[in-house]
Amino acid sequence: MDEKPNEKGINQWMHADQFPEHLKKYWFQRFKIWEQYDKGIWMTEDAWFGVTPEPIANKIAAHIAESAPKDKTVIVDAFAGVGGNAIALARSGRWERVFAIEKDAKTMKCAKHNAEIYGVASKIFWLTGDCFEAISRFAGQKNVVIFASPPWGGTEYGAEDVFDLTKMEPYNLDTLYKSFSRVSKDLVLYLPRTSDLNQIARYSQEGKKLEVAHYAMMGASKALCVYFGDFDFEMAETEALE
Ligand SMILES: C[S@@+](CC[C@H](N)C(=O)[O-])C[C@H]1O[C@@H](n2cnc3c(N)ncnc32)[C@H](O)[C@@H]1O
Repeated sequence: MDEKPNEKGINQWMHADQFPEHLKKYWFQRFKIWEQYDKGIWMTEDAWFGVTPEPIANKIAAHIAESAPKDKTVIVDAFAGVGGNAIALARSGRWERVFAIEKDAKTMKCAKHNAEIYGVASKIFWLTGDCFEAISRFAGQKNVVIFASPPWGGTEYGAEDVFDLTKMEPYNLDTLYKSFSRVSKDLVLYLPRTSDLNQIARYSQEGKKLEVAHYAMMGASKALCVYFGDFDFEMAETEALE
């Protein structure tokens, strides 16, 4: 993809000597984050901290695809960032429609460009704006799954052994859960690997299991996903065995 970004803050770093010194560790991880990085991926500086690495995004997309209720045909990525998850969800081929919401216009431009590299830009409906407002357009639709990878509160989020989800900034677990579950009870939240599971368990429905999956790279958990609602992993396993 030859197109070069022409806006300050949107970058296509192709050489180590162009890369910001304070982000250097990400330069060495660039192909673990984007397998097609050298096709001209666009990034903002902030996006390096939050982007979901491609193998993890693909795994999550596969898990959602196989476990979501069959009558769900639309998925909304509420915090699309530079497109890590939205691209993987579109590539899974499971959804009639994939929506990607991102409030930062430059970050959104990166996401659209990156989706072009992966050949799925035209499969995604892009909504630039605040997800808590944009999500209301899906209210009343019964066929929607929401995926949300919110900011975790900056680079220092991992300092505590157990991450207190009531203090997550700028949106805590309660805000996220209440805002999104109003629109769809089938909700996947991508959260820090050290998230307090007791806090998560308080949102489980009476008599129902709440699935939590860790996603690892090179033997170490990167993050976890909580699957609220009617995701059925047992059925997915049975189907895989048949
Ligand atoms: C952790 S990043 C998401 C990364 C994304 N999953 C990816 O792989 O690129 C969180 C994103 O949410 C965006 N954001 C924060 N608050 C938002 C809001 N209220 N509505 C929409 N987007 C928001 C930020 O600009 C940031 O790009």
